[in-house]
Amino acid sequence: MLVVIKKDYEEVSREAARIVAGAVRSNSQIVLGLATGSTPLGLYKELIALHRAGDLDFSQATSFNLDEYLGLPAFHPQSFHFFMKQNFFSHVNFPSGNVHIPDGTISRNYDEYCAQYEQSIKAHGGIDLQILGIGRNGHVGFNEPTSSLASRTRLKALSRETVEDNRHSFSNDSEVPKCAITMGIGTILDSRRVLLLASGRSKAAAVAKAIEGPITSSVSASALQMHADVTFIIDEDAAYSLTQRDYYRHVLEMTQIFTPERLS
Ligand code: GLP
Repeated sequence: MLVVIKKDYEEVSREAARIVAGAVRSNSQIVLGLATGSTPLGLYKELIALHRAGDLDFSQATSFNLDEYLGLPAFHPQSFHFFMKQNFFSHVNFPSGNVHIPDGTISRNYDEYCAQYEQSIKAHGGIDLQILGIGRNGHVGFNEPTSSLASRTRLKALSRETVEDNRHSFSNDSEVPKCAITMGIGTILDSRRVLLLASGRSKAAAVAKAIEGPITSSVSASALQMHADVTFIIDEDAAYSLTQRDYYRHVLEMTQIFTPERLS
């Protein structure tokens, strides 16, 4: 595990973009696992800027998004389909046929649909680079506390905390989604490389539990400790509750000297 502590959100976004852009350049047919939420917005902005500058080509890339709210059609402004189009896909040359986002409008055969999503990831050779944010309760994707660490893509009930966090985005209380389709923790752990981004003091407790706490289904992100190639890129505020900050800085320095390719 590599923990990269940056000054602020802008630096987190730039560092994440540097790594993602490097990965896309070295493998034009890359399969990206993409995330929504406010955290990766800066990363998407940076990637769009690189694309516009002619420095980044997504024409052969494929993507799988982590999750989608159940009940929201793609045109709903709070759907993750809408988010991805608005904040990324409509600004880059990602072929629409290569974009996969769980369909929030299905109303039956959920298990079958989710198994197909898993199958499709497999058929594309698996996810090369998975981007993650983290919820205040330590969830990744919508793997709420107590999700099985071996879980696969499935329908998941959202926790009270997540529903509360989302409430402000919906004008009508009855519209606030109570369920989502999400990749499982097992699905995420199968990715070849994982980048988790976090910013702000509100994420500090979750980040500390994920990195330094015991591996527990109560904090889904702690399962990443079992992944052989995970990088946390976090700002000073999100790093606030970590006890080993000096050690992470030392490791990063050594990594830069001895294995710089790990960071590119
Ligand atoms: C949602 C998403 C997660 C995201 C989390 C944090 O629950 N399903 O993928 O990481 O929110 O969002 P934000 O980055 O806005 O804090």
